[in-house]
Amino acid sequence: METVHIKNTGLRGVPVADTKISFIDGEQGVLIYRGYRIEELAGKSTFLETAWLLLNDELPYAGQLNSFTRQIEESREIPDFIHDSFRRWPKGSFPMDVLQASVPLLAIADPELQDETRDGNLRKAIRLIAKIPGVVTAWHRIRNGMEPFPPDKSLSHAGNFLRQLHGKSPDPGVARDLDICLILHADHTFNASTFACREVVSTRAHMYAGVAAGVGALSGSLHGGANARVMKMLMELETEKDIAGWVRNEINQGRKIMGMGHAVYKTMDPRAAILREMSRRLGEKLGEKKWYDLSIRVEQAALEEFERRGKKTIKPNCDFYSASVYHMMGIPVDLMTPLFAVSRIAGWCAHIIEEKFGDAQAKPALYRPESEYVGHYCGKMGCTYRPAEERTHTQ
Ligand SMILES: CC(C)(COP(=O)(O)OP(=O)(O)OC[C@H]1O[C@@H](n2cnc3c(N)ncnc32)[C@H](O)[C@@H]1OP(=O)(O)O)[C@@H](O)C(=O)NCCC(=O)NCCS
Repeated sequence: METVHIKNTGLRGVPVADTKISFIDGEQGVLIYRGYRIEELAGKSTFLETAWLLLNDELPYAGQLNSFTRQIEESREIPDFIHDSFRRWPKGSFPMDVLQASVPLLAIADPELQDETRDGNLRKAIRLIAKIPGVVTAWHRIRNGMEPFPPDKSLSHAGNFLRQLHGKSPDPGVARDLDICLILHADHTFNASTFACREVVSTRAHMYAGVAAGVGALSGSLHGGANARVMKMLMELETEKDIAGWVRNEINQGRKIMGMGHAVYKTMDPRAAILREMSRRLGEKLGEKKWYDLSIRVEQAALEEFERRGKKTIKPNCDFYSASVYHMMGIPVDLMTPLFAVSRIAGWCAHIIEEKFGDAQAKPALYRPESEYVGHYCGKMGCTYRPAEERTHTQ
């Protein structure tokens, strides 16, 4: 096979596989799930309907959606042994680490773990979508000395998450807004965590192994961890008078402004536009508009600074405005990235199934890129091994 030289580019602009699940036009700020614009889904769909769409290639009929919703509702319970182990884990553990560690626990509790048929994988996807919110909320309650709160079938997926987190039914408008946030974050082509999932299952590992890798990739501050870092930045800037000076100093120090810039979008991320309006509306409704106002001031200062530096394509991404939205919904800062996973699990599972069954295009089973060796080299016969006591620094 001919070698293609694209190394050290982070695979930017390099298509590595076909997909039928989602599409981005980074120049025009377009995001599409299986043919439908994100604006259309955010305005009209629900998270569970969108999850079905991602998993099944088309929007469901009413009967299909009812049956999918019932299966999710019936799969929400978390096995007791997971709650028991949470009670023994250090209370200061990071929620993303707890989530990543819980995914193999969900695997060993899955009676159909070895069923690698398409239907078996779809059922695993349903269990994962159903249980991840309960894992995130149970950990939060147990670390704070409370008991996990049971799920409620009368609420939407997002409403149930808020109820299990806070121990009381949420405001319906806030629950609908969170459901929209889940739709917005559900898939995003070959981002780092999705690629991690696909790479792992390309070895024929099971779905949970792929999802555990995805959670790990999502935890990083350049990916899903950015929303929590944005909120920390806003809290730090609450009393700052000179926002422009702060932004300039951060960039001069070689630090990034969190929630700004994107590997694919070179214009406004369409999800950020929806979240910006939601942040304004929620701020007015809940009497906390200061977070939206502050976000706008940081955005303007950052855009001016980027423009001054000739970097006009760095714009807010979805994490910039989801931070204030989640904060106003009462989501603790360190649960903002796990909440991203509550949504992205739908996309991860869809991509895992597409990868496992070659749905978009048949390809070699295993991802296996090349690397170029630039380390020590003593020729093809290799360096001479000497016992430790005979070694010198020059060897
Ligand atoms: C997401 C991200 C990694 C994508 O970046 P990318 O396309 O790979 O671009 P690079 O990181 O190579 O950045 C290109 C240039 O823009 C600068 N840049 C990009 N995003 C920046 C930001 N948020 N703040 C300051 N500078 C930024 C880089 O420093 C780099 O400058 P240089 O060419 O002088 O070295 C990057 O924009 C980033 O780190 N953003 C902040 C983290 C974040 O919000 N992540 C969530 C993504 S949804």
